[in-house]
Amino acid sequence: MAVTTTLRDGIAVVTFDNPPVNGLGLDVRRGLAEALDAANADDAIHGVVVTGGGRFFSGGADIKEFNTPRAEQAPNLHDVIAAVESSAKPVCAAINGTALGGGLELALAAHYRVARRGTEVGLPEVKIGILPGAGGTQRLPRAVGLETALNMIVSGVPVAAERLDGSGLFDALVEGDAVEAAVALLRGRIAAGAAHPRLRDRQVEHDDAQAFLAWARMGVAAASRHYPAPPRCVDAVAASLRPFEEGIAVEREGFTVLINSPESRALRHAFFGERAASRIDDVGPDVKPRPVARVGIVGAGTMGGGIAMNFLNAGIPVAILETSQEALDRGIAAIRRNYEGSAKKGRITAAQVEQRMGLLTPTLDYAALADADLLIEAVYEEYAVKQAVFGKLDAVAKEGAILATNTSSLDVDRIAAFTRRPQDVLGLHFFSPANVMRLLEVVRGAKTVRDVLATAMAVAKTIRKTAVVSGVCDGFIGNRMIEQYARQATFLLEEGALPQQVDRAMEAFGFAMGPFRMGDLAGNDIAWAIRKRRYVERPDMVYAKNADLLCEMGRFGQKTGKGWYDYQPGDRTPHPSAEVEAMILEQSKALGITRREISDREIVERLVYALVNEGARILEEGIAARASDIDVVYLYGYGFPAWRGGPMFHADQVGLYNVLAAMRRYARGHRGETWEPAPLLVELAGSGRSFNDPVARPRAAAA
Ligand code: 3HC
Repeated sequence: MAVTTTLRDGIAVVTFDNPPVNGLGLDVRRGLAEALDAANADDAIHGVVVTGGGRFFSGGADIKEFNTPRAEQAPNLHDVIAAVESSAKPVCAAINGTALGGGLELALAAHYRVARRGTEVGLPEVKIGILPGAGGTQRLPRAVGLETALNMIVSGVPVAAERLDGSGLFDALVEGDAVEAAVALLRGRIAAGAAHPRLRDRQVEHDDAQAFLAWARMGVAAASRHYPAPPRCVDAVAASLRPFEEGIAVEREGFTVLINSPESRALRHAFFGERAASRIDDVGPDVKPRPVARVGIVGAGTMGGGIAMNFLNAGIPVAILETSQEALDRGIAAIRRNYEGSAKKGRITAAQVEQRMGLLTPTLDYAALADADLLIEAVYEEYAVKQAVFGKLDAVAKEGAILATNTSSLDVDRIAAFTRRPQDVLGLHFFSPANVMRLLEVVRGAKTVRDVLATAMAVAKTIRKTAVVSGVCDGFIGNRMIEQYARQATFLLEEGALPQQVDRAMEAFGFAMGPFRMGDLAGNDIAWAIRKRRYVERPDMVYAKNADLLCEMGRFGQKTGKGWYDYQPGDRTPHPSAEVEAMILEQSKALGITRREISDREIVERLVYALVNEGARILEEGIAARASDIDVVYLYGYGFPAWRGGPMFHADQVGLYNVLAAMRRYARGHRGETWEPAPLLVELAGSGRSFNDPVARPRAAAA
């Protein structure tokens, strides 16, 4: 970190450098305050340009400091902003790179702002559950108007500087170096003897502010259930119509409430968790990824087609292979249909549809995959089928090519052993629909070498996926846990609940869809096939019979018009089914269970703690490297409510002692044998720690 001052033409150019994003941590704030003081004390200096070195003007306040004493330690961000605004010598912010959050707020406190064309500015605080707390809600409306400011603050989406040209935010937009232009601008204003303007002295004008705000409040309330930040953003922006100091007081109050809210803590956990997931302990920056310029995909079904689209979208040519012309044509047509659908909705242009389709080479011949750098298999989930495919891939793929399986549950090491190059094999587990879902489980085989892993992580970034590394085990991180969740859901049916009650409870907890609606959407026959395999491989695993009976009744879900619910043709609305209810009641009777009233709380605890317990095992076995990786899997792949931060973070908030106590209670009830607590959970709960403690490392990985 460094804050340096250079002198240009009587103007002090203060540059702060704090890689990677020029966050405004304590050291930067101190350096800025000192540089400003020094400039004001020096008679040879007539004005000050403040700028960020590198790609960013500033990514904002240092989020890592939040809820620690450093955030408030003087000079805090308010002190620095006050010093800029009240500087006796005029200050101009030179925005050469992205200015976000506190970074933009710092610029808003300056007397002038010059930005390089092409840079982006924004107040993204709402995305981490807070509001802009350093004057942004008051100064931005004064610069760009009430409506634009409200949109920027409530959405958190950065906008290109050009879009705000002429709004009063920028005194100049320039093609080249903003610093040079800022120095020239200051020289001109100083020479003209002009008074140096402050945004706080402007008035926010709007023809019908109250009507606009009422409309905005309604929209925000509907879109942000469970999230306290967006309505607080509206309140603070609304207060910009009042005198500046009154508005700032509203902003401060909102910020203080939000920064301590569980929702903001959860969203910040997700923010750092997502970034931490891309780090692999033994794969440092010295391990260079292999180049991936061409991709081959085996299987043009829903999964293979969806996977292919990720690469086509990123401009990477794909050869896609099927076993019959008919299947190939069907797969290609589905991809085209998907793109044309996007074009109809205006998401891409007709030219982009053709450009992407032009990168796709359909083939029936493995030889066409010979020049691919990455080959991904997306065929039927059976070892014999995988063996045949990997044998052929091994024969044609060039040396150094990476061979990936998209299996969701089979043993990647066994698949790797079908080739003579297990070091180049790994799992790339995409989630359906593969072109939409952000999660990618990168499965590290026992023999996968480090640069293959590094390549997978780099590829994930290129195709804009959130990658999490998983070790090899049945179901990897996500599906291994979801099985425990689904099991508890069906046990609850045996005891007294009905699918609609379970779904309602989980949806009220925040899941987009309860387990039974989810089963109906995904196809109940898929889990049935897995259970059939388990009955052979893991006879010790206990399952409720009701899910099998459902499938025996042909109730596979939406695709058969009936599953846990009944469906009307062409309509996805679930209707409680009398037939299913009768089957469930019959099952309870057969088990000799007197059905009882089950509370929503019990439903939520049993399903979520089942995830947590299996997550703890995954962690202690070193299948996941850190608890936040598990949370990221659940947030991006399974619709776990973002404002709860993922199952492991949620358990930490409940308190592991309480989680364990609840599990022990459930262990005394129906199917109690499924509640054997994971040793790691017992250990952490016993020592008052949590999964996300920095010291709570999995023992296997720490060994
Ligand atoms: N504070 C602390 N660390 C930050 C940070 C911040 N504001 N922004 C990014 N980082 C860290 C990331 O954690 C990551 O660290 P790592 O390398 O150790 O994992 C590193 O910087 C690089 O981040 P990305 O991988 O995200 O890099 P990208 O180039 O893809 O994106 C970015 C950069 C657009 C700045 C993105 O990181 C981002 O959106 N950051 C958050 C911006 C934000 O929310 N700013 C507002 C902060 S709150 C605030 O200012 C309060 C004020 O109103 C009082």
